[in-house]
Amino acid sequence: MKVTVVGAGAVGASCAEYIAIKDFASEVVILDIKEGYAEGKAMDLMQTASLMGFDTKITGSTNDYARTADSHIAVITSGIPRKPGMTREELIGINAGIVKTVSSNLLKHSPNVIIIVVSNPMDTMTYLVHKTTGIPKNRIIGMGGALDSARFKYRLAEAMEAPISDIDGMVIGGHSDTGMVPLTSHATRNSIRVSEFLSEDRLQQVADDTKVGGATLTKLLGTSAWYAPGAAVSSMVQAIACDQKKMFPCSTMLDGEYGLSDICIGVPVILGKDGIEKIIDIPLSAAEKAKMKESADGVSKTNGLLEL
Ligand code: 2OP
Repeated sequence: MKVTVVGAGAVGASCAEYIAIKDFASEVVILDIKEGYAEGKAMDLMQTASLMGFDTKITGSTNDYARTADSHIAVITSGIPRKPGMTREELIGINAGIVKTVSSNLLKHSPNVIIIVVSNPMDTMTYLVHKTTGIPKNRIIGMGGALDSARFKYRLAEAMEAPISDIDGMVIGGHSDTGMVPLTSHATRNSIRVSEFLSEDRLQQVADDTKVGGATLTKLLGTSAWYAPGAAVSSMVQAIACDQKKMFPCSTMLDGEYGLSDICIGVPVILGKDGIEKIIDIPLSAAEKAKMKESADGVSKTNGLLEL
């Protein structure tokens, strides 16, 4: 199982590291345009192999896509991250051109590859890959909801002073500071609805904190987060590589599901060997449906900025 990670920055390197430590892939190729950077990150990671106990072979390449040939899965993290005070949408001008070029180069050498998009604004970048490559929609997956759901569970556990392993929860909608839809009505602590433990106001605070989870970290770090994004996308790669049939909220092209069409936005899907194997239609309250529609309007507005 060969995986390519495009972008040797913090998110890409963290993704490669978590994939290697989980040891389900035979090879991970990290590619970057910066001379020697991917090779350095790959070598540094390989020097942890004897310490961390993995046999995955990690190599780096400076912009030679031939080295990515015959990849089963490719993760696109390349592009600029946001700075404090920026929205993800403000990155579209630079990142759209990068994502378009990267996806084209990947497909030249791996025509059957499954592409996972991380670069922001992620829902719009995922949509861009659809419109510029034309590959089947099950093979184009946007990573946002897996990360946002992890932040949601973190905030729920914090509010209930509970172990995160007790918590289940999902965030759907757009991967944006205003467009996320944390499903507070569905979240549970060991099968018990969290509303049994938290007041409506406290739950709203959890949802609000979740939506700005990325911006909160960007303010603290001076740049976008990387550990949780890397971990989130590595879990999706594992679900595909190991045909786990796991459910994740992923950005996917909708064709009527949730009353939406011609848009990529976060909804529950089943990830397996074929990528997105099924879109799951879950019951939403009237309020959740309204938030999803509002979120979709925001994503569509950003999509309108693309020069397709
Ligand atoms: C985040 O929310 C990078 O969009 C990513 O941290």
